[in-house]
Amino acid sequence: MRQKFLSGLPKNLAILGAQWGDEGKGKIVDALADHFDLICRSTGGANAGHTICTDGKKYIFHLLPSGLLHPNTIAVIGNGTVIDLPGFLGEIQALESQDLEVRSRVQIAYQAHIVFEYHKQIDEAMEARRTHKIGTTCRGIGPCYNDKIVRIGVRCEDLLDEENLEFKLRRNARFHEQEFDIKIDIEAEIERTKALIPLIKPMLCDARYLLLDAIKAGKKVMFEGAQAHHLDIDHGTYPFVTSSSVSCGGIVTGLGIPAKNIQYTIAIAKAYTTRVGEGWFATELLETLGEKIREQGHEYGATTGRPRRCGWFDAVVVKNTVDINGVDSLNLTKLDVLTGIGELKIATEYRLGGKPLTNVPCTPKAQEQLEVVYETFPGWDEDLSGVRRFEDLPKNAQTYVKAIEQYTGCKVSSIGVGADREDLIFIT
Ligand code: GDP
Ligand code: IMO
Ligand code: MG
Repeated sequence: MRQKFLSGLPKNLAILGAQWGDEGKGKIVDALADHFDLICRSTGGANAGHTICTDGKKYIFHLLPSGLLHPNTIAVIGNGTVIDLPGFLGEIQALESQDLEVRSRVQIAYQAHIVFEYHKQIDEAMEARRTHKIGTTCRGIGPCYNDKIVRIGVRCEDLLDEENLEFKLRRNARFHEQEFDIKIDIEAEIERTKALIPLIKPMLCDARYLLLDAIKAGKKVMFEGAQAHHLDIDHGTYPFVTSSSVSCGGIVTGLGIPAKNIQYTIAIAKAYTTRVGEGWFATELLETLGEKIREQGHEYGATTGRPRRCGWFDAVVVKNTVDINGVDSLNLTKLDVLTGIGELKIATEYRLGGKPLTNVPCTPKAQEQLEVVYETFPGWDEDLSGVRRFEDLPKNAQTYVKAIEQYTGCKVSSIGVGADREDLIFIT
């Protein structure tokens, strides 16, 4: 079934998060990766945490693409990403300590920005000052993108000119110490960074032409999304979002490829909803049921270990992702987690002042006033982990999946029934 599914796909595939992150993107990327030549990350940094379980082992990827477990894939870290160099090299070393050659397979865009310790200090300082906290991962992501946008950022290409690198770091430290009232040990930062240059330099390249040439040569390319549409800086539940464009548009700008090269898009949606960090979440279950889903689904953050907030599947949220990104099909994950939950609900519509809303609102007034319309479905008690064909799912589970297709307006092309690489149903 997997082979049939893969043979029906065009050469270039995008994988996107459909909700608020942690939908299981890493698992599907890994499950399909051996079919692809290059796996690319276009945005975000070590705020992402993608878990892969295979052969009794568990791997967590932060900035490295999750397809790297397959020894023939090449990883591209695009210009739209932000790289914490010590953390990044640590990720590479962790994989290499498990006898996997990684270094020679990683290519980093010259234009990718570097996250320094002072970005993490600023992230914490800003979070402490906020009345309405965002609940960031404190990985320095927002402050690094901030430097990029105000045009004082340090990019990977700056590692090739140490004099200029030192100048920029000292200048930025002075600027940030004043602005955020923090003390930055910039000399230690300079030393640390310079020591890493020989390790990073061999991986730097013009990633745009690397990709363009690969695409022209007929190579198969996967664009691995991080975060999710509703965490997107423009399209998400602003301001409770991350600081980059994590939707389809971010793939184009974050890698420098023509938009037409995204030939097929799969959005990854959990069979329920989770969110980690603050921000609006209409279908959140605050009581026992939410806790039950959290425990059954092991819903604790892969990056920060924070408990994830859990709630019903929200078809309005996912439909929004489908519509805005032109999603071709959904990979529905963690259907197995809903076993034994009892009756299930899907949010099918939002209403404000009696009228249906097409969008997920960001203003507090609309969020408070809107009514969420639910449809209730009977649950199931069967263990789904061994199921490999849609027809073998319990009838109630089939009805639940069909309802998700109906309300999101998008077909479900694969279903996750367990954490392992093999625990997938492909629908061809
Ligand atoms: P990502 O950030 O989207 O890659 O997702 P995370 O890795 O942060 O979180 C998803 C979690 O669910 C991981 O622990 C996965 O191993 C696990 N997972 C993925 N798909 C399934 C599934 O279908 N069933 C179960 N039970 N677990 C899954
Ligand atoms: P993956 O790729 C879930 C959330 C944070 C916070 C907000 C801003 O694993 O799905 P940031 O540190 O980016 O400034 O935090 O975004 N967030 C994620 N939530 N999964 C992620 O990535 C996330 N990356 C960022 O919790 O609410
Ligand atoms: Mg995650």
